[in-house]
Amino acid sequence: MQTAEIRRRFLEHFEKRGHTVVPSASLVSPDPSLLFTVAGMVPFIPYLTGREPAPYPRATSVQKCVRTLDIEEVGKTTRHGTFFQMNGNFSFGDYFKAEAIAFAWELVTGKVADGGLGLDPERIWPTVYLDDDEAFDAWRAYVPAERIQRRGKDDNYWSTGAAGPAGPCSEIHYDRGPEYGPGGGPEADPTGDRYLEIWNLVFMQYERGPGEGKEFPILGELPKKNIDTGMGLERVAFLLQGVDNMYEIDEVAPVLHRAADLAGLRYGADHEADVRLRVVADHVRSGLMLIADGVTPGNEGRGYILRRLLRRAVRSMKLLGVDAATLPELLPVSRDAMSASYPEVASDFARISGIAYAEEEAFRRTLVAGTALFDTAVSQARAAGTPALSGTQAFSLHDTYGFPIDVTLEMAAEQGVTVDEEGFRALMKEQRERARADARAKRTGSVDVLAYRRLLAEFGPTDWRAYDTLHTDSRVLGVIDEADDATSDDAEPVVRAGGITRVVLDRTPFYAESGGQVADAGELTWDGGRAEVIDVQRPVKGLVAHQVRVLEGELRAGTELTAQVDREWRLSACQAHSGTHVLHAALRQVLGPQALQSGSYNRPGYLRLDFAWQGALSAQQRIDVEDVANAAVRADHGVRALYMTLPEAREFGAIALFGETYGEQVRVVEIGGEWSRELCGGTHVRGSAQIGTLALTGESSVGSGARRVEAAVGLEGFRYLARERDLVRQLADLLKTPQDGIVDRVNGMLDRLRDTDRELAALRGQQALAAAGDLASSAADRGGVAVVTGAPAGMSGGDLRSLALDVRNRLGEAPAAVVLASAADGKVAVVAALNPGAVQRGLKAGELVTLAAGHVGGRGGGKPDVAQGGGTDPTGIPAALAAVEQTIGAATS
Ligand code: ALA
Repeated sequence: MQTAEIRRRFLEHFEKRGHTVVPSASLVSPDPSLLFTVAGMVPFIPYLTGREPAPYPRATSVQKCVRTLDIEEVGKTTRHGTFFQMNGNFSFGDYFKAEAIAFAWELVTGKVADGGLGLDPERIWPTVYLDDDEAFDAWRAYVPAERIQRRGKDDNYWSTGAAGPAGPCSEIHYDRGPEYGPGGGPEADPTGDRYLEIWNLVFMQYERGPGEGKEFPILGELPKKNIDTGMGLERVAFLLQGVDNMYEIDEVAPVLHRAADLAGLRYGADHEADVRLRVVADHVRSGLMLIADGVTPGNEGRGYILRRLLRRAVRSMKLLGVDAATLPELLPVSRDAMSASYPEVASDFARISGIAYAEEEAFRRTLVAGTALFDTAVSQARAAGTPALSGTQAFSLHDTYGFPIDVTLEMAAEQGVTVDEEGFRALMKEQRERARADARAKRTGSVDVLAYRRLLAEFGPTDWRAYDTLHTDSRVLGVIDEADDATSDDAEPVVRAGGITRVVLDRTPFYAESGGQVADAGELTWDGGRAEVIDVQRPVKGLVAHQVRVLEGELRAGTELTAQVDREWRLSACQAHSGTHVLHAALRQVLGPQALQSGSYNRPGYLRLDFAWQGALSAQQRIDVEDVANAAVRADHGVRALYMTLPEAREFGAIALFGETYGEQVRVVEIGGEWSRELCGGTHVRGSAQIGTLALTGESSVGSGARRVEAAVGLEGFRYLARERDLVRQLADLLKTPQDGIVDRVNGMLDRLRDTDRELAALRGQQALAAAGDLASSAADRGGVAVVTGAPAGMSGGDLRSLALDVRNRLGEAPAAVVLASAADGKVAVVAALNPGAVQRGLKAGELVTLAAGHVGGRGGGKPDVAQGGGTDPTGIPAALAAVEQTIGAATS
């Protein structure tokens, strides 16, 4: 049975049983605590927790999912895929355990002719949570007690891994037969190969708090008892298609076979090569699906995971002996295998493939540069006698060159070198924690999100008016004082002049920071009081929190006030945000559609935009980009915001950079019709001429394959250009030349400077020669050693050393010692140079320098024949040289 057919049967089965069919949401998780959609229930979290009313009591979906926790297992086991599809049915306070079990049983064991999946009922082994008698009894209607096993929290308790809904679960296993392992049911099967888990029924009744692994607190019961189930579509497909694992099903195998062809291998002939081929097939598909959902390769978060998947695929092909670019061969095969269920991978393939191929190119170049660094690190490690790369080296390969750690590990293993993986992971963890702490501190300060959740539950979402008005009459719903501890529940906080706090209003015109646009500035005023708005965030979906400093009076819950956004600020913010869209469109027009934005930030007067691009922009490209952008400003394109569903927005040509849920309304901002269309929740000018001016102020690298452009916008743009003009005027005055003569004039000056430097160097050489002759002829005999001491003026250590060696060489074979000291720029250099004869007489250059340096307030030392040192006290030079003469005299008499 084809994968698409299984999915069709699943949806039909549940639709017939009163479920609303909901299309898959984006892989980019709508839940901010998760990077990706990791399960079918993720888009439904607000309904499961009761924070939003469910629009239907029952739902069913086939959800795209990505999980990368087990990435090392991919290809090695039968069933670990980074991308997979989860068939699910959901009840939001409607049916519970008995019906969920009945529905699942009917589909799994139902006859194929009747729309079921036709699996053998005798081979089904359910598990239930330890004390879950209700589920156990429900299963007894279909399965004998000896085939129902009770298991603990590790296996039969489910949550996304983050705070949110949780509950005990019941898993359905299918016995693949004795050839896959010993009997005795799931509890006796350590690998999970024989008793394959195909479906997990979760009885969602609790809300869990944050915590690692299975260590998390249960905060309380959910308002309703819900059902969340997940059937692994790929797992059922490989059972029903009679193949051995998920990489051989109809949606994946074509890539695997194409990869084998390219490598000139037969799949199934060699275990190690097979694993690599399966990695390639899995990762190429995940890459395709992630890019389709708007993820672009980058160095953090989702972008990094995508980058890692694509790079692992490319690297695996390389290890299979394929040196040429491989994604252009493999990605279209994956597209053809997936487009039946996901037409957008075909319709959007030009964009998707552009991004993927550029990433492969970037990685191939990276491999060359990074391999050189890697080789140096390896030979340094070998030279130091420790055939191990440090965690810091592995981290810098990762951070600077975009080498995924497994690439470093593989390359190191090939060289017989180990890697301090623990050190690397510690550095990664540090970096992640820094980033996380930053993000947390920014979003919510130190305040527990729960306080906001309570306000949301009590009063509903904030009436948000930022698109229509700059002031509203509002009421304070809650004051959340950061200084407060947990006891703040009883005492109602009052904030007085000077205090900083966060307030939630029933209605607000303030834009909360998001989509790269900073928060609005402005004021709250009330009878007898005034507060300045410092920051605005959305700590939980639907709720706007204002961080304010109270300037006069007292602020408390219930205060009626006027919320006023600073007009100038907002206009400038709109200029900057619209400017960002204009610049993005201009970049893509000049460089090509692959120059896709990966991040942005804009505030009044300033914007920056990161985008996918390899190498610096040329001067001409920068001029062209600025030109296209300012032409669009001059054209005064109309700016409009439209609302539509995500598929409609795609159809409309809007660039969707971030994940949105299908079915939800999205906002598209267009400038000049199709000239620029982007999904965006920001505030914008009405016509592009309002942007005023857009002046590029910088262009730089932000990691491999990503560039950043910065620009001054509006009045700041004019000011930036005015400052540059003033600088040019000053230069022209200084150089006494008209402005367009500056470059010639400076070039001429540089030429002359170079000539002068050359002449100076020649003169110095002549002088030194003369000095050497003079010094050599001043040699005095001290007990058979020719001794020269001297203090030539103004020489640095290096020059002095050359001079001393020159003098020594002039003194011939007989024992000779030269000690020179020179002061330059307040520093003293001391050099001693002895020939072998003098060394044989027991003199040591190092000791002489140490002695001399002591007199000029410094230190020094070195080998017996040549030594060097220095100090900071030029007045000590005569005493230093006298001491040297005396010591030599004493030693040789
Ligand atoms: N949400 C459950 C899972 O992912 C069904 O296993």
